[in-house]
Amino acid sequence: MPNTIRLTGIEKFFDEDQVIVTKTNPLGVITYANKTFLDVSEYRERDVMGKPHNMIRHPDMPRLMFSKLWSRLKRGREMFAYVLNRTSLGNHYWVLAHVTPSFNTDQQIVGFHSNRRVPDRAALNEVILPLYQKLNDLERQAPDPESGITAADVYLRKMLQEKGVGYDQFIFSL
Ligand SMILES: Cc1cc2nc3c(=O)[nH]c(=O)nc-3n(C[C@H](O)[C@H](O)[C@H](O)COP(=O)(O)O)c2cc1C
Repeated sequence: MPNTIRLTGIEKFFDEDQVIVTKTNPLGVITYANKTFLDVSEYRERDVMGKPHNMIRHPDMPRLMFSKLWSRLKRGREMFAYVLNRTSLGNHYWVLAHVTPSFNTDQQIVGFHSNRRVPDRAALNEVILPLYQKLNDLERQAPDPESGITAADVYLRKMLQEKGVGYDQFIFSL
């Protein structure tokens, strides 16, 4: 269970030429994981197959980012995001993730697919960490998860509006 694993505070790294890949069914249950995912996440294949993808969720990831992710995926859209994940040993690692639906020939969503690469360190430290800290603060101060997500969403929208960019442009500009 994700919340029973004690976090070590130790960051794990992977190489620039590596890609961490998983696929899920339409409910977000893992149906495929490549060797790099298993190595970095410190899991065996049999520990992840058939498990919900939130098994590697790190508590310091703002809920808003996953709310945005699922809202986009359900509309058939892709999303790029900086994501912090937890390993089976309680270590953590950062990725720049691309998550996208897979369609059948009738254009129905049959599952989802994520490729993750090494994130840009400067973007992470200078932009993403302070942003996620702010989103987490807003979510944690709220009386319930839903209003926390709303408060975080209002903040992110205002920040993007001030910069004059959409979310995708913002991520690509980092
Ligand atoms: C293809 C795909 C890949 C995903 N990859 C991750 C991931 O690497 N880390 C993560 O925490 N959630 C990932 N998610 C999102 C999870 O399904 C889930 O929404 C998230 O962990 C938040 O879980 P929670 O709502 O139980 O807090 C992925 C979802 C899909 C469809």
